[in-house]
Amino acid sequence: MDTTRTLGRSGIEVSALGFGCWAIGGEWQGPEGQPFGWGKVDDEESVRAVRRALDLGVTFFDTSDNYGTGHSERVLGRALGKRRADVVVATKWGYLFDERTRTADGSDASPAHLRRALTASLRRLDTDHVDLYQFHIGDAEPEQAALLRDTCEDLVREGLIRAYAWSTDDPARAAVFAEGPHCAAVQHALNVLQDAPEMLRLCEEAGLASINRSPLAMGLLAGKRRAHQPPESGDIRSRPPAWLQGFGDGSGADPEWLARVEALRSLLTSEGRTLAQGALAWLWARSPATVPIPGFRSVAQAEENAGAMAKGALTGGQLAEIDRLLGR
Ligand SMILES: NC(=O)c1ccc[n+]([C@@H]2O[C@H](COP(=O)([O-])OP(=O)(O)OC[C@H]3O[C@@H](n4cnc5c(N)ncnc54)[C@H](OP(=O)(O)O)[C@@H]3O)[C@@H](O)[C@H]2O)c1
Repeated sequence: MDTTRTLGRSGIEVSALGFGCWAIGGEWQGPEGQPFGWGKVDDEESVRAVRRALDLGVTFFDTSDNYGTGHSERVLGRALGKRRADVVVATKWGYLFDERTRTADGSDASPAHLRRALTASLRRLDTDHVDLYQFHIGDAEPEQAALLRDTCEDLVREGLIRAYAWSTDDPARAAVFAEGPHCAAVQHALNVLQDAPEMLRLCEEAGLASINRSPLAMGLLAGKRRAHQPPESGDIRSRPPAWLQGFGDGSGADPEWLARVEALRSLLTSEGRTLAQGALAWLWARSPATVPIPGFRSVAQAEENAGAMAKGALTGGQLAEIDRLLGR
């Protein structure tokens, strides 16, 4: 398998695997105190993990201004240091937060906020441009998003961003952004348990990259999550919001999801892959547009996930067998 892919029609080249930087933002909370992070993290381990990923050929990193209320961007900026020029950095805007109390604080879909948020992200990332700037409010009004798309075109002309995308699971909304010439991608949920055929069709037809969030089903496809084993209290999976699937009421992984993982285990772990590597291999086989961005919190996870590239994509026959096993 070619271990590089392009971000759609932008022509920006990235490693076929990106790294998702939500977890390394550490703990933060929603307005009612519900956890929005993935529990405690060790910043020094996060920095080592990012640098290990760079050494293993990963050149694409996805973060957001609100992950850890700015902390993820700071840790990523510090870890990249002088190697910033060698990588493609994607971040997001749209949600408001208080860095001092590490609390989320609503959203703002105005063009004025877009410019303010970009200035703040550039400072935290310690860079003069963002390669891929992504609108984070997945269910925002399309008419409002069209204004933001046009502002993003201005930002491309000003040299502050190279390309932009919408992080949304709705193909109709993604199509609104796709009308902008420098829209390069859509970020959306996709993993072997949650297919998204309509969104992939749009990406392939419109020349957009399909950046895959939750490629490991928020850890379920890494194999160490159990039923009746609650995640730690600062972890979003312990009090899952409505959109977070596979963790039931927070008392542990959903048995029905775990059963589907078990049904696929032997196929995904064939040819010397770990379960997580098999889940990533499915994504590369699913479409030439996909770029999975698994989360990570340690050097060991960075090595295992980056190692998936050398093992390549599943075959068409294996994809068909997976659909059969899942009754799709
Ligand atoms: N709306 C949006 O735009 C949006 C929403 C969600 C995510 N994202 C982006 O997508 C990225 C990834 O998606 P995700 O965070 O939902 O989850 P994911 O990639 O499906 O799962 C990541 C989690 O799985 C576990 N893991 C990863 N590699 C592992 C390995 N090799 N072995 C064992 N466990 C492993 C880690 O958690 P544990 O160690 O705690 O199990 C890790 O945090 C995020 O970081 C973020 O950049 C964007």
